[in-house]
Amino acid sequence: MAAKQLPLLAALAVLAVLAAAAAAEYNFDDQFDVIGERDHIRYKAEGENQQFALELDKVSGSGFKSKAKYLFGEFSVQMRLVDGNSAGTVTSFYLTSGEGSTHDEIDIEFMGNKSGDPYVMNTNVWASGDGKKEHQFYLWFDPSADFHTYKITWNPKNIIFEVDNVPVRTFKKYADLPYPTSRPMTVHATLWDGSYWATRHGDVKIHWRGDDPFVVSYREYHATGCVAHPKAPPPPSSSNSTKVEAPPTKCPAGSDAWMDRELDEEDLKTVAWAERNCLSYNYCADGWRFPKGFPGECGRD
Ligand SMILES: *[C@@H]1O[C@H](CO)[C@@H](O)[C@H](O)[C@H]1NC(C)=O
Ligand SMILES: *[C@@H]1O[C@H](CO)[C@@H](O)[C@H](O)[C@H]1NC(C)=O
Repeated sequence: MAAKQLPLLAALAVLAVLAAAAAAEYNFDDQFDVIGERDHIRYKAEGENQQFALELDKVSGSGFKSKAKYLFGEFSVQMRLVDGNSAGTVTSFYLTSGEGSTHDEIDIEFMGNKSGDPYVMNTNVWASGDGKKEHQFYLWFDPSADFHTYKITWNPKNIIFEVDNVPVRTFKKYADLPYPTSRPMTVHATLWDGSYWATRHGDVKIHWRGDDPFVVSYREYHATGCVAHPKAPPPPSSSNSTKVEAPPTKCPAGSDAWMDRELDEEDLKTVAWAERNCLSYNYCADGWRFPKGFPGECGRD
């Protein structure tokens, strides 16, 4: 009897695997919109695990963005950046509420460099169109040699940037200062030619590789956040109003874990360590850029 059932079980198992693969394939278009040229994105799904490769060549860059719009959440991905001479390339993982002069955005961007020179990881926050809040870091490893995890936690109290689960920056909400609280955001991942500004402020341009594209690999994409209803009207970005009402959202089970998260003692130590050892630019120390005084949050606890 058992022998008779085996082939059936095997067939069912094969069907289950095929169904999972089909569902996961479908998943990409279900979850994401393509940015740039579709043929510059390669993706494959192994069960739950999706892998993406973004390509950049002389024709186009590429990217993908979530269809879901989130208002607060935890967003992470593993990335392996362009290797060799990556000068001029910009690789990103960020959240944005859209274009518009009063948009919100939370950025992680990697500016490539010549072989042997370090990548720079830029972090930035925009609230109601108010940006220019960069902290930039050299990483303590070569981000092109292997996959590393980059994570953004965004809740009503603060935004936390983490690299391999090491917090390197927190951007806090202060009641009297702009903070992204009401505009739902989509998650974006892109690779593009930023020659005009990325490497040594644009002095080092992209070095094309003949017909070979630049490639960035992404895997283990996780987005868990409160989701704004897809039919919720977009905030009136044309109105230029800085105050917009948050739309109703649905938060997943277990969201307390990131919704209430603030840095603990240990986390504060790693942020201080990153500031001492890795920080290559801090807007709060750039007096030339803010001759009339630093933004309000600079120097606050
Ligand atoms: C590239 O390398 C140079 C020299 O080490 C460094 O000054 C610069 O910050 C690096 N990164 C970028 C994005 O220019
Ligand atoms: C919004 O602001 C931009 C400049 O920041 C201006 O060009 C535009 O006309 C404004 N729109 C409205 C509706 O006030």
